[in-house]
Amino acid sequence: MIRIAAVGDVHVDQDVVGRFRPALNELPDCADVLLLAGDLTRHGTEAEARCVAEEFGGLGVPVVTVLGNHDHQHDRVPQVVKVLQDAGIRVLEGEGIVLEFAGGRLGVAGVKGFGGGFAGRCASDFGEPEMKSFVRTTKESAEALGVALRGLDCDLLVALTHYSPVPDTLAGEPLEIYPFLGSYQLGQAIDSAPTALALHGHAHAGSERGTTPGGVRVRNVAHPVIKQAYSIFHLGDHLDAGEVSRIGHSGIQQPWS
Ligand SMILES: [Fe+2]
Ligand SMILES: [Fe+2]
Repeated sequence: MIRIAAVGDVHVDQDVVGRFRPALNELPDCADVLLLAGDLTRHGTEAEARCVAEEFGGLGVPVVTVLGNHDHQHDRVPQVVKVLQDAGIRVLEGEGIVLEFAGGRLGVAGVKGFGGGFAGRCASDFGEPEMKSFVRTTKESAEALGVALRGLDCDLLVALTHYSPVPDTLAGEPLEIYPFLGSYQLGQAIDSAPTALALHGHAHAGSERGTTPGGVRVRNVAHPVIKQAYSIFHLGDHLDAGEVSRIGHSGIQQPWS
């Protein structure tokens, strides 16, 4: 069994530093790895990234993340990634990593992803160059995720994105903004490999549970959704995703939400 702790959309700035840390310090007792589903910062500045590094760096377990749209806001992605990597946080974008634990080899493939919408109600690669560019961005992101997932040699496979691969976990968000919250193409990529669990964030007002058309369990781990420092998933050889609710630390509130 491999134990995965996960949270997204922590949107850290100076005022958040120290809020997650008490729960994070307990991670080695209850999880093998921490996965972060993007939107680590509010505006993607290096100063905010340093706050993330202070809060999520130097934990007793490996930390793997993707970036979110907020982490792109200041167009300082290389600098933000460097701050995070220097703190030992592994940032994935169109690539995968295999981590070896007593319970087996965990493969994690990650991309930020992008919008576009879902089957029957999605943007199409047609018309203006701006629309083609929008859809191409999603397509390339999903293709990179699929290639990364299929290329990992591991016992258990997890997909990590910021944008959602399914509409199920958007329930609670206005229907009108679904195309900006995720894309079915990410779901197709997840279904192209023997993925055990797909984790995402971004949909603060969404819901926790969903399933891809191919039957892969999807979990929205955005902090405003899970309302705790992190959720823990137990993955076994049977590729089942059991869940253990984090007890305590549920009082962490986002002052900006
Ligand atoms: Fe967010
Ligand atoms: Fe986001």
